[in-house]
Amino acid sequence: MERPSWAPEGIDLNRPNAARMYDYALGGSHNFAVDREMVEKVEAMLPGSSLIAHANRAFLRRAVRFCVEAGIRQFLDVGSGIPTVGAVHEVAQAVAPQSRVVYVDVDPVAVAHGQALLRDNPSATAIAGDLRRPDEILADPRLVKLLDFGQPVAVLLIAILHFIPDDADPWAIVARLRERLVPGSYIVISHGTPEELPDEADSVGQLYRGTSTPLFLRSRSEIERLFTGFEIVEPGITWVTSWRPVPEDDDADRREILVGVGRRP
Ligand SMILES: C[S@@+](CC[C@H](N)C(=O)[O-])C[C@H]1O[C@@H](n2cnc3c(N)ncnc32)[C@H](O)[C@@H]1O
Repeated sequence: MERPSWAPEGIDLNRPNAARMYDYALGGSHNFAVDREMVEKVEAMLPGSSLIAHANRAFLRRAVRFCVEAGIRQFLDVGSGIPTVGAVHEVAQAVAPQSRVVYVDVDPVAVAHGQALLRDNPSATAIAGDLRRPDEILADPRLVKLLDFGQPVAVLLIAILHFIPDDADPWAIVARLRERLVPGSYIVISHGTPEELPDEADSVGQLYRGTSTPLFLRSRSEIERLFTGFEIVEPGITWVTSWRPVPEDDDADRREILVGVGRRP
């Protein structure tokens, strides 16, 4: 297929990819036929699954607002995706205009769009980076210029860790990020789990094997271990729609994603 002008050179247009599938599920326009077909297949297998993306974004907004209200003015959003309405800088800067945000994604479409969107925003930037190499992310000069790790930072890992295989050791990766954070910092995680819907999770997992971003769903206790040494704030690790719900997020109850927010004591 022909490469549209917004798609950077070198990306695989023939294999579905999580960033663009997610963009389609959220009603965006930066996706290809292969991505849309895969979303429809997942939807047929797990009806209502496109709504998971909405519920997940709603959690992201609530968690960012929570962090800003707790005094956080710096955010590192890894696996940020293609920026859509309600992105972290919009939510944070609406409450605290001085908030600084660094978006990181491995997908060149997501990074290119983030950079275009943030061209006139001196307090936010988008960089290319791979969560499997956290030290490279933390050493990126554009990140170092914007974020001061001597002050509290909220690290957002929203719907990304289930794309990291066990052999890449997501627990060690998150530990590496956690150990750079000073007391009062936060880590925000949302992660797919097969706990409540094991058969559906198995079928969806098989579909994702055909994408460039296979899925590695994990149990509640495996997800809990990602917060080691941090205090999990109330109401604890919950389903995505149950974490500090607000009336304007009227997402129906979902049981595919567990979320939590941890604070460094
Ligand atoms: C499902 S989307 C979630 C987007 C956003 N965090 C949200 O919740 O709205 C997952 C994102 O993680 C990115 N991603 C997957 N593996 C990654 C990796 N190893 N390093 C950085 N980003 C990655 C994908 O490109 C995609 O944009």
